[in-house]
This record gives sequence, C-alpha cells and structure tokens, in this order.
Amino acid sequence: MIDDSVFSPSFGRKPAILLGREQIISEFKEGLRGPAGNRDRATLIMGQRGSGKTVLLLSLAEEAVKQGFIVASPTVAGNGMLDRILEKLEYEASQTAPKRKKRISGGGVGAFGISANLSFTQEAQEGHSFAYKLMRLSEQIDAMGKGLLILVDEVQGNDSELRELAIAYQELVGAGRNAAIAMAGLPGAVSSLLNDKVLTFLHRAKKATLSSLQTGEIDAFFSYAFQTCGLAVSEADRMRAAKAAEGSPYRMQLIGHYMTRYAGENGHISGKQLTKALQMAEEDFKNGVCIAIAEALTGMERLFIASLSPEGNTPVKLIAERMQASPDSVNNYRRRLLDAGIIISPARGEVRCAIPLLVEFIKEQGS
Ligand SMILES: Nc1ncnc2c1ncn2[C@@H]1O[C@H](COP(=O)(O)OP(=O)(O)OP(=O)(O)O)[C@@H](O)[C@H]1O
Ligand SMILES: [Mg+2]
Repeated sequence: MIDDSVFSPSFGRKPAILLGREQIISEFKEGLRGPAGNRDRATLIMGQRGSGKTVLLLSLAEEAVKQGFIVASPTVAGNGMLDRILEKLEYEASQTAPKRKKRISGGGVGAFGISANLSFTQEAQEGHSFAYKLMRLSEQIDAMGKGLLILVDEVQGNDSELRELAIAYQELVGAGRNAAIAMAGLPGAVSSLLNDKVLTFLHRAKKATLSSLQTGEIDAFFSYAFQTCGLAVSEADRMRAAKAAEGSPYRMQLIGHYMTRYAGENGHISGKQLTKALQMAEEDFKNGVCIAIAEALTGMERLFIASLSPEGNTPVKLIAERMQASPDSVNNYRRRLLDAGIIISPARGEVRCAIPLLVEFIKEQGS
C-alpha cells in the first residue's frame, strides 16, 4: 500500500500544507506583533463546511505560540465553552511557566504550580464571573511576559456564552492586556452574530472569508504530494484530479487519498482507477459536506436549490417557475441562501450554487 499520510481527508485534521491561507495568517501575525488592543487582534473567519475553518484556527494557534502566546485551542461554541477556555488557558500556562513547587492556598493546592492565587482553587472559583476569572488569569499570563489567545470554533448566533466571552474580551482590551481572539463559523451563523447588539466589537474585527482554492494551487500541491508518496500520475491526469476538486480543500484531500488507495502496487494509476477515485471522493464529499448543509435547510430552501441548474447561473425568474412560488417568497429564500453563502449571485437576477455537488445531492434526495 502507498503511504498516503501527505493527505488529510478528515475534518479538523491539519493538512501537510495549508494552501491559500497565507494572507490571512500573515495579517493575523501582524496583529499579534502590533500593539495590544489593535483591531487586528480580533479575527472572524467565515467559511462553508469543509473550507478549512478548524484547521486554520489550528494554524493560527501554532503561529501565536511561536510569538509567545498562551493559546486556548479551538473550543466549540455552546454550553460549557467558557469553562473549557479557562481550563485550556490555565493548563497551557502551567505547561509554559517555570515549574515551582506546589503552594498551598487556604487548604487548596495551586492547580499546576503557576501560582496558587490563580483563581482556580475551590474557594476562588465560586461566586465569580467568567470575566473576573479571565482577568485574573490574564494578569498571571502577563506576569509571565506572555499574551493570550482565545479560539472559538463553530460560532452560532444568539449564544449567551459568546456574549459573555465578548464582554470579557473587551474588558481585557480595556485593561491593556496582551490578548487576541479568533472565531470561526458558517457564513450564516457569522452574519447573525454580527446582528447581535452585544457583539458590536465584532464589527470592527478583521473578517476573513475562506475562498475556494485555485486549480493551479491544487495541481501544484498534487504534484508535490504524489512525488512524496511515490505515485506516478501523468500531467493530464493530475490536472483532471485538480479540476475535480472544484476548489474545495476537503475534496482535494479526499481525491488525493483515494488516488493513492486505487493506484496499483507499482504506483501507477490508470484512467479507470482515477475515475473510481474521483467517484469515491465525490461520495465522501456528499456524505461529509452536502448532507450537513442540506440538513440545515428548510424544505423550501432545498426546493430552491433543487431548482437550480447544476452548471452555471440560473435566472431567479426560472427558479420561481420551477418552484411554482411567488416572486416575493422566492426572493426571500434567495436572500437567506445568499446570506448563508450557499448560493452566489454572479449576475443581476441570476444565482448559482456555491457548493459543489449540492444541487445534484439534493435532487438525488428528492428535495
Ligand atoms: N487550506 C487548506 N489546504 C489544504 N487542506 C485543507 C485546507 N483547509 C482545509 N483542508 C482540509 O480540508 C478538510 C476540512 O477542514 P476543516 O475540518 O478545517 O473544515 P471546516 O471548515 O472546519 O469544516 P466544518 O464546517 O464542517 O467543521 C480537512 O481534511 C483539512 O485537512
Ligand atoms: Mg470545523
């Protein structure tokens, strides 16, 4: 079997090479180098399923660690998020701090020896807000000469813990702490966050939309990756594979993975084997990405998608005819789907699906 470890065809798994995100990462690094409290210290990443939000957060974490930050690795928004963030920061700080002997504080033992005052002894935990605990922790991290970075994944609108986090973060900024935050979510979730009055600081945050990868970029990666794993692929077949990814990083990883799987022992892959690999990648992409997106849509939204032509643009008028719905209601679905980043409008009065295979998948499912 060919070693395919150069490919990472699973969610949240860091790829060997992170393609096409250089600018976002370099701007983020600039932000960390800049003065505490600057606008680039807060980043909001938007992207569809499989576009690489989680792995980008992981890369930002690595960069921040190199710059002397204590990082709370990506925490999924939702219940318990605030406690997890504190735990992670405390643990990471304890791993970085010079080891001291454990100290006793009021009968409790200082958690990891950074300091017994580190608000995590039993009595100090109780009765204090998250903002208070985070502020105390930030003082400790500051005293270590380090900054702190909080990463939140899968943000949702209307989330009380996220509001609390936003308030606490703004207090850190107000106190001049060396803090930064990066959050990632689906475009629709992020746009509902931006409508939240408590989260106004997010309007000033740096926004990054994860765009599709360029075919040339994918082809160059395949060239490197196939060489690394000893797969012999003609230039034409490699380009065919790169095009088939349709700009999706996840699909690219799946294609590479299945190409190594279906290649012969000698490392050669025939046209037929390539076709099989592309089909398998398509299946996995539908099961990993299209299902999740389709499940989050209403019946009418699915009908809207099923009314799109699989290739190219579709006039909204034609969609209304196919849906047998009034122009007003079709416009309503159009707006919602645009907001969610599921369709785009490349020309006035026309739309197309932004997610490869979704139209086909929803049609197969019978809307
Ligand atoms: N820029 C990239 N270059 C190469 N591979 C990538 C890139 N971004 C993501 N991938 C690969 O794509 C897959 C999906 O990445 P990830 O889990 O980060 O997506 P996601 O946007 O968080 O998806 P979801 O919304 O479903 O959580 C992984 O296999 C990852 O290795
Ligand atoms: Mg993710």
